[in-house]
Amino acid sequence: RILILDFGSQYSQLIARRVRDSGVFCEMFPYDIDSQRIIDFGAKGVILSGGPESVHADNSPRINDAVFDLGVPVLGICYGMQAMADRFGGKVHASDIHEFGAATIEVNGHSQLTEGIEDSRTEGQSAKLNVWMSHGDKVIEAPVGFDIIASTPSCPIAIMANDDKQYYGLQFHPEVTHTLQGQALLSRFVHQICACAGEWTPDNIADMRIAQLKEQIGDKQVLLGLSGGVDSSVVAALLHKAIGDQLTCVFVDNGLLRLHEGDQVMQVFAENMGVKVIRVDAEDLFLNALAGESDPEKKRKIIGKTFIDVFANSAREVSEQSDGKVVEFLAQGTIYPDVIESAKSHQGKAHVIKSHHNVGGLPDDLAFKLIEPLRDLFKDEVRKLGITLGLPAKMIYRHPFPGPGLGVRILGEVKKEYADILRLADAIFMQELERSGWYDKTAQAFAVFQPIKSVGVVGDGRRYAWVIALRAVETVDFMTARFAHLPYELIETVSNRIMNEIAEVSRVTYDVSSKPPATIEWE
Ligand code: XMP
Repeated sequence: RILILDFGSQYSQLIARRVRDSGVFCEMFPYDIDSQRIIDFGAKGVILSGGPESVHADNSPRINDAVFDLGVPVLGICYGMQAMADRFGGKVHASDIHEFGAATIEVNGHSQLTEGIEDSRTEGQSAKLNVWMSHGDKVIEAPVGFDIIASTPSCPIAIMANDDKQYYGLQFHPEVTHTLQGQALLSRFVHQICACAGEWTPDNIADMRIAQLKEQIGDKQVLLGLSGGVDSSVVAALLHKAIGDQLTCVFVDNGLLRLHEGDQVMQVFAENMGVKVIRVDAEDLFLNALAGESDPEKKRKIIGKTFIDVFANSAREVSEQSDGKVVEFLAQGTIYPDVIESAKSHQGKAHVIKSHHNVGGLPDDLAFKLIEPLRDLFKDEVRKLGITLGLPAKMIYRHPFPGPGLGVRILGEVKKEYADILRLADAIFMQELERSGWYDKTAQAFAVFQPIKSVGVVGDGRRYAWVIALRAVETVDFMTARFAHLPYELIETVSNRIMNEIAEVSRVTYDVSSKPPATIEWE
């Protein structure tokens, strides 16, 4: 396993993803975790990320010497390289001028790290690597014992290496895809230099997790809130394999789900896999709680609170019905990006904060211990694990669906009549996206109900009926998004079907707003 210390670069998470992509387990922690944690991690190698600081600034982040006491290879990237150079007596030049973007570096020297990477070298000529640079400061004098392996006209030391100690520094970012041989470099570091085996595969992850869960849970009972989303579904599949009937899932149908969603969840888990699932039909409860409320944030809060109430009731019932066996654990689908995000803002106290946050809503008499079997996995790893565990691809690769569901896609007050109309319109849109192959080309797509009436002509009469908006976006991180450029023919088919098949709809519009400033959801 590889330890990554995060000095605050925007690319840090990518380092972890690339290392895992090469089949090696790694975890990332803030650079200032204490020495004991560095030792206890048992790393076969350490990677120091980039960061926004300058080693010349007061109180800028330093590398804990415990890293070098481990006696394992160390790779410093950008700021990580500068901090390493500074630590061993090299010279770092501070500069306000930022070098940002693609660059070509010339590889003139040899090192274990770059072996094979330099193989485009021809007689008398240096090899060239296309890399991605993003730095102000740079190392201008390598420490004693380090060789200069590569340079550019503006960056005299783009790669430095100390093969004896197996310490390496890269001024560029191997973790971004613009560095063409970046994955190969990182893979070489973890496999050849650190001698990690490529055992981090979905099959192995599944086997290891199932064994760990068996051990952790013993003969105790576990409760899981199953939403049908990817994360909780994978947790359900894992737990079912690990502990079978000791798992009880609670699926809350809040009346704000997509068409047939509840039936599909029951079919996959209860019927096909034999998982114990309690389906709570809470449509009336949710709709009554929402009646008369049109403020978006208040609607969200009502839905959240009602969910906690319903879930807590089921939890009590399950506890009472378990033949005296106490339900000791609550399982949750927390995944690694959530953990890293809270670690960033709370400096290493991620576990505590996340756990409290998540169980925080439940009443005091339901004091569960938490089980989070996905808390060190990235979304794509969770998906691969789900496929390995036999979950249907359609479930694993589905678009995200917000917790408040159709509640935030019915503008203003929520009514059953609106939810029923929206469900049908949304289902038609999904069918046509799938039929045309566009479902997989968009990151998220859905229909939105507009509580306004617009005129249409049917036969000889004028009809005043509701308006449906269609929304489809392309995005990788959901922080920014572009409206999907769906073909007009597809939009036309969807629009015609919605107006012909749903008498209560007289008009369909397509949302052409990108984020920012528009958000993905309408409320
Ligand atoms: P926005 O609308 O903020 O959405 O651009 C970004 C992503 O977050 C989802 N989303 C939510 N998910 N509860 C959730 O669980 C919510 O209240 C919520 N609001 C937005 C949204 O679907 C999109 O994927």
